[in-house]
Amino acid sequence: MTEKINKLKAEIAALTAANAAEVEALRIKYLSKKGEVTALFNDFRTVPADQKRAMGQALNELKNFATERINQLKDEVETTDSVDPTLDLTRTAAPMPLGSRHPLSVVREEIASIFSRLGFTIAEGPEIEDDWHVFSSLNFAEDHPARDMQDTFFIQRSPDVLLRTHTSSVQTRIMEHTQPPIRIICPGRVYRNEAISARAHCFFHQVEALYVDKNVSFADLKQTLLYFARQMFGPETKIRLRPSYFPFTEPSAEMDISCNLCGGKGCSFCKHTGWVEILGCGMVDPNVLDACGIDSKTYSGFALGMGVERITNLKYQVKDLRMFSENDQRFLEEFQSAH
Ligand code: DAH
Repeated sequence: MTEKINKLKAEIAALTAANAAEVEALRIKYLSKKGEVTALFNDFRTVPADQKRAMGQALNELKNFATERINQLKDEVETTDSVDPTLDLTRTAAPMPLGSRHPLSVVREEIASIFSRLGFTIAEGPEIEDDWHVFSSLNFAEDHPARDMQDTFFIQRSPDVLLRTHTSSVQTRIMEHTQPPIRIICPGRVYRNEAISARAHCFFHQVEALYVDKNVSFADLKQTLLYFARQMFGPETKIRLRPSYFPFTEPSAEMDISCNLCGGKGCSFCKHTGWVEILGCGMVDPNVLDACGIDSKTYSGFALGMGVERITNLKYQVKDLRMFSENDQRFLEEFQSAH
């Protein structure tokens, strides 16, 4: 019997299996009811009484050894079974192309985030507008050239339905329904009847800001502009205001920032002036407040409006405006890491 036990032990130690079915066959061969190890237990009856103890121990050891060996083989085939041996698991994964945010979205959201830190919330309005919201409420004179078909896309005349030429129309829409304090920015797409070129497009994007409350002063406007410019273009940025004219603001100004390419020394980008223009602004004309139902004797406000393409060009030096709407993947992929 000892001999049989040793022989089986050696046999079991040398077992191999290539898959789960083979392991199962081995389990049946040795450990099932009719298996070879089980058969030895049946022979146990014939063992002389004085050897029973030692033999019993040896048999149990054999059974445990066989069970462990079969389990071990099972583990081995489970890990190797599912893996194709031709696969190289150490190879780097194939690159998976990820989409990227559009540069105009990246910049628009950066503008919104800077103004939100000053307490401005986002307001939106329709792109298809009427004359009142785009022009009349904003103090445009009857014969202002912007009302001309040359500059504005009309969908219908009298009553006029048109594509908004600026997001200032959203100012009116908010002021008509809200009493101050009002602190909003209005991002959106605008349309103008321009020939498409590298420097002009028939649609582009603006962000407008409006703050109306008691005692809002030009100093508040200037401080807001400085904060915006430094957050957007870096802490060294300088600003300069030049007097200008817009029908809806009085006084009006245009803001330049120190050229962010040459740091103000003068380069071809800033036409060697050291300054680049980035937005229009001013104190809301009292006529506009009154037209929208806000008492201009109690309240004052400032407004500003900027082109998102312009800011994006300054940040990323995009030379041709048309790139923004052509969906050329090579261009868009350059902004993969922008945000
Ligand atoms: N609406 C102007 C434009 O489209 C931009 C603008 C200038 C907006 C001055 C303003 C402002 O709110 O105060 O050119």
